Amino acid sequence: MCGIVGYTGHRKAYPVVLKGLKRLEYRGYDSSGVALLKDGQLNVYKKKGKVAELEEAMIGKDIDACIGIGHTRWATHGEPSDRNAHPHQSANGKYAMIHNGIIENYALIKQDLTNKGYTFTSDTDTEVLLNFIEDIQKNNNCSLEEAIRIALKRVTGAYCILIIEQDNPDTIIAARKGSPLVIGIGKGEHFLASDASPIIEYTKEVVYVNDYELAIVKPDELILKNLGNEKITPYITKLDMELAAIEKGGYDHFMIKEIFEQPSTIFDCLRGRLDAKEGYIKMSGVDDHIEQLVNANRILIIACGTSWHAGLAAEYIIEELCRIPVEVEYASEFRYRNPIIHKGDVIIAISQSGETADTIVALEKAKENGAFIFGVVNAVGSSIARISHAGAYTHAGPEIGVASTKAFTGQLAVLMMVALNIAKHKGSITTDRYSELLNELEQVPEKVAAILKDADQIKSIADKYKSATDFLFLGRGYNFPIALEGALKLKEISYIHAEGYPAAEMKHGPIALVDENLPVVFIATRDVYHEKIVSNMQEIKARKGKIISIITEGDTISPDLSNDYFSIPSTDELIAPILTVIPLQLLSYYVGIAKGVDVDKPRNLAKSVTVE
Ligand code: AGP
Ligand code: GLU
Repeated sequence: MCGIVGYTGHRKAYPVVLKGLKRLEYRGYDSSGVALLKDGQLNVYKKKGKVAELEEAMIGKDIDACIGIGHTRWATHGEPSDRNAHPHQSANGKYAMIHNGIIENYALIKQDLTNKGYTFTSDTDTEVLLNFIEDIQKNNNCSLEEAIRIALKRVTGAYCILIIEQDNPDTIIAARKGSPLVIGIGKGEHFLASDASPIIEYTKEVVYVNDYELAIVKPDELILKNLGNEKITPYITKLDMELAAIEKGGYDHFMIKEIFEQPSTIFDCLRGRLDAKEGYIKMSGVDDHIEQLVNANRILIIACGTSWHAGLAAEYIIEELCRIPVEVEYASEFRYRNPIIHKGDVIIAISQSGETADTIVALEKAKENGAFIFGVVNAVGSSIARISHAGAYTHAGPEIGVASTKAFTGQLAVLMMVALNIAKHKGSITTDRYSELLNELEQVPEKVAAILKDADQIKSIADKYKSATDFLFLGRGYNFPIALEGALKLKEISYIHAEGYPAAEMKHGPIALVDENLPVVFIATRDVYHEKIVSNMQEIKARKGKIISIITEGDTISPDLSNDYFSIPSTDELIAPILTVIPLQLLSYYVGIAKGVDVDKPRNLAKSVTVE
């Protein structure tokens, strides 16, 4: 989720807010905007595109105000556009609000407000929340602060909101749950932001607002309350990070920050869609087109790079659960062949950026031939999202590191839910198996967190093998795509040559590579293939290969065959890829660091390959 900035005090607000938005640009975004309040006049300016475009649009505008809020948006509901950009204004024009996060139950609230005669100028969940607050304030004839408290008790999802009110010339009301909020304490002024980067140049005294807290912020007063209207003493801390460190959330690089974000990004991906207790998966993109998906003659998955690896994992999962033939195509190959596309074909397009040129052209070709396109995309409103007839966003948030990590696990989670949804409707899965997999999927965020706790073990393995000139990554079944992904991660982050192979394929040639200098990474989790993988490990050991294995906790066989190993929590074999990839992401990161590579921007690579 993106960036929030607020200011109230003796300075002109616009320069502080604009500079703050520029400080937050590193978080990635698709549009931005500001709201300024002066003498009861609420001015809102907002624009799709870069902050620089907003700045351009602001030239000549009335920016003479000492209170303001600003926002950089990473769209989740409603494509990037001027009208969907924040701040949003309430129907009565009295309030302006900015929001980071997702209001899960916005559709129900919007329906209720529409029935009451409310109209909306945007497609966002944010505007719904704001008009919900207005409606509560009107019906209860209460203060804005009270209306916000009532509303926040009735919404589900994640939010950090800042609201300013026409009739309250110097006050910003802020609240958070699930999205960050920091308040900087100045002399006769206060600063609010998603992280300390817009604040640190003005003050090092900050208050980190906690979930379910609400702040009433004036130039010379900060009141903190809980949603029960009880005052809380603000806990002031001193910032001890430099600007560069703040941008990375205290991590050394965006890549490692994004690897460690995965428990929450996978949770965000499942949020509002999967409920294991109630036994359902709700995905409007699937539910609204379920007949088309269930009756597909064939599913073609089109993608590039890491996204292609997610597609290969999905092939195994969809064929297992849905019994629909699946083919996975490199977009760059598909677009230049003369592929056979039938009308009844369903195409799943997978892309983090939604702007990969090869994938876009391949999809346009398929669409011309009548295929139905389902997009699994991270960037809301991107080209591939717009080409698709339907889809499901991965909700991984902006991925800044060139190497795709959190977007990849988001893709796997979405594809797993799509497969389960289709299988359930098709009746190709038993109810027990369905609920078993729902439960396993719901536990993934905590299992990923458990793996990340042992990251130091991977760092030691990385330090031990960082001088190798070649690596092999071997897996079987659902873990074969992860072997390919592990090899790609190592290649692109450490520049060491690495290849991924189906483990059984070794005997058909690649085993000639094996000697005492070759590290071979086995993904050897407990599944139907485990016995075979163990034989493959013995074949490598017999030729003095160095074995690094990713195993299931409690496995007593694989460690004896391994030079080094890393244990992950037990899970269903179909879910395992989301877990087994985590140690491989860490391995590539730590080897890259040990080799002094710029892991966030490796040589020759672009975050989004928008050219052929
Ligand atoms: C993955 O780490 C690479 N950055 C690259 O392979 C990437 O996955 C590929 O370019 C596809 O990008 P997309 O998902 O944005 O379409
Ligand atoms: N869900 C809101 C929207 O789509 C906020 C997104 C964000 O966090 O930037 O506009």
